[in-house]
Amino acid sequence: MKIISVVGARPQFVKLRPVSRALRALGVDEFVLHTGQHYDAEMSARFFDELRLPPPDENLGVHGPHGGQSGKSGQGGQGVDRAAQAVAMIDGIGRVIARERPDRLVVFGDTTSTLGGALAGLRAGVPVAHVEAGMRSFNPEMPEELNRIVADRASDLLFAASAQAARHLEAERLPGAIHLVGDVMLDVVREVLAGVGSGASPGVSPAERLGLAPGGFCLFTVHRAENTASPERLRPLLEVLRRAPLPMVFPVHPRTRGVIADFGLEPLLDAPHVRVVAPLSYTDTLRLAAAARAVVTDSGGLQKEAFYVGVPCVTLRLETEWTETVDLGWNRLVGRDVEAALGAIEAAAPGIAGARPYGDGHAGEAIARLVAGTR
Ligand code: UD1
Repeated sequence: MKIISVVGARPQFVKLRPVSRALRALGVDEFVLHTGQHYDAEMSARFFDELRLPPPDENLGVHGPHGGQSGKSGQGGQGVDRAAQAVAMIDGIGRVIARERPDRLVVFGDTTSTLGGALAGLRAGVPVAHVEAGMRSFNPEMPEELNRIVADRASDLLFAASAQAARHLEAERLPGAIHLVGDVMLDVVREVLAGVGSGASPGVSPAERLGLAPGGFCLFTVHRAENTASPERLRPLLEVLRRAPLPMVFPVHPRTRGVIADFGLEPLLDAPHVRVVAPLSYTDTLRLAAAARAVVTDSGGLQKEAFYVGVPCVTLRLETEWTETVDLGWNRLVGRDVEAALGAIEAAAPGIAGARPYGDGHAGEAIARLVAGTR
């Protein structure tokens, strides 16, 4: 059996690991196709090294229009260009499908690369499996929401990470078969905390390296299109950073770095308690999250990672796909409300312990068995 796994953006390299390893353990011939969506070494190649993934078999090099000029916001966050990027991916993935003749495609999560892979498979008549199916924010402004809906509609195998995701898929009466397998990211967190990742500097914790006391700082990230689209939207989030009552570590995503410069918002970062750093390795991100008093973020992945390492999260959005983290008291949704965010940081406290809404950390194996069993 031959599979093409389509990845392209940072969180997908993480999600690929457990699925890829389990597929290979079952003897499946896997071809890893990188769309090129993320191209900076620190956003891409580093993850393959660190997570001990074989390098991609092919990279399509489909960047946003400003690809390669990191540090510039470019137009990657705007609709037309993202659509053009998706079209270039559909075309490129289609050519690889024609040459490699796979039995199936596997797509991950909700990025432009997920959309490109799902539509390329649909167009070529090759079945598609979607890992992390059924996530919904019900926020039509998020490009990711459209990507999820299209990928789920295009897939005949729908791998849900939570019971809630499976219920969304059931409610939409999609043609694909729904399998509740749990979250592949829990597999990775389990493995990395057990020492699998090679991205940690031995002996020195990332908090120590940055001179931060464990439990005495927050890990802060922001990159979503809807939060970085205008100075009016981004400014309050940087105000949260500036006014926060404790040290804040801010590993800056290239999109955010570009728009902060374009909007002239750099002065907001100029405060002694704010540590602006380059994007971190996966292991360092997890270890920093685990040592933080709270994680403050608009990332989907970090909300869950905070939950897995038992650290409260303040989410800079008004909705989340990972509703269980909120229901269990580990996550507060504050949107772009500065006072609400500062209050939530002050009040951050653990939620209910012991619940496992996202499975047991063996989702990759369950997915591989189901993929290998379908031709
Ligand atoms: C994408 C995903 C998002 C995911 C995030 C993780 C979509 C619609 N969004 O957002 O769901 O949470 O990845 O990081 O797919 N850039 C660089 N260097 C890079 C990558 C990007 O400079 O390595 C620049 C691009 O040129 C572009 C901007 O950053 O100008 C945004 O990149 P893009 O791929 O559009 O989306 P992300 O914001 O990374």
